Amino acid sequence: MDVWPGEMPPTGPELAWRAADCDGILSLLTERIDATLLDKTPYVLVVSNMATGFDNVDVAAANERNVLATRTPGVLAETTADFAFALILAAARRVVEGDRYTREGSWKTWGPETLLGQDVYGATLGIVGMGGIGMEVAKRAQGFGMRILYSSRRRKKEAEAQTGAKFVPLPRLLAESDIVTLHAPLTNETHQMINAESLGTMKTTAVLVNTARGGLVDQAALYEALRDGIIAYAALDVTDPEPMAPDDPLLALENVIVTPHIASASVATRSRMAMLAAENLVTALRGEVPEHTVNPEITEAWRKRVAASLA
Ligand code: GLV
Repeated sequence: MDVWPGEMPPTGPELAWRAADCDGILSLLTERIDATLLDKTPYVLVVSNMATGFDNVDVAAANERNVLATRTPGVLAETTADFAFALILAAARRVVEGDRYTREGSWKTWGPETLLGQDVYGATLGIVGMGGIGMEVAKRAQGFGMRILYSSRRRKKEAEAQTGAKFVPLPRLLAESDIVTLHAPLTNETHQMINAESLGTMKTTAVLVNTARGGLVDQAALYEALRDGIIAYAALDVTDPEPMAPDDPLLALENVIVTPHIASASVATRSRMAMLAAENLVTALRGEVPEHTVNPEITEAWRKRVAASLA
């Protein structure tokens, strides 16, 4: 076992060199697993990504080389939903601005109109992407007496029955929601799904929360929308690129909160993710297909490859 010791991720060439004779790689979302890397790591049978998202893994390249790819869904859904709610509340109720206001000495008295925000209880919440995390967000929204709309590739009757969420097309969700929270995977179809046009259809009082992937949002368009009052607020735990540069124009706006991709960052959840990633890796290296495989379509060819390499 070769454990990368650095805080900063290895470069592509460093990873390729270190993994050149490895049977498997346990990757983080900071690693780009693509054809270039896989061509230089010919013994790799499995790439176990310690994340639920896997847009850092080129699945087509893995398929072409019969490399299994796995991820860590489920174990982080509640923790990520908690954090999405933390951002919803922080943005709607201007928590971070309030903290800045206090620290800079602006708090002189109780003012009836100081830092007025918007109510979360009773508001309409639009959940974009009703997977495991979206579902947990919906459950939390029930406790706040919210009206819940969702859009997703497929209708999720179970989520509707459990949370009262209503399936609507994305344009309707964007037009009617007071708060829009993103929980969709980043794919060619979802890339910059929130752009100048879609922002223009949202309420001027709307709050946008992103704990999914930065690439879902056209950040330049978001900057203009927040600056010009097209929407009211954004809270982003993910950006494109990551990390966000300290001089990014978004950070000059008061009506933006940016956190450093920490939605799943609780002690318990990061331990569970690490354990599941390790289990996925070991399961595959024993010749079994782990439950959380991203590309089960290559199972048959992969089994042959494993049998040959273990022989
Ligand atoms: C984190 O962003 C993850 O996909 O788990």
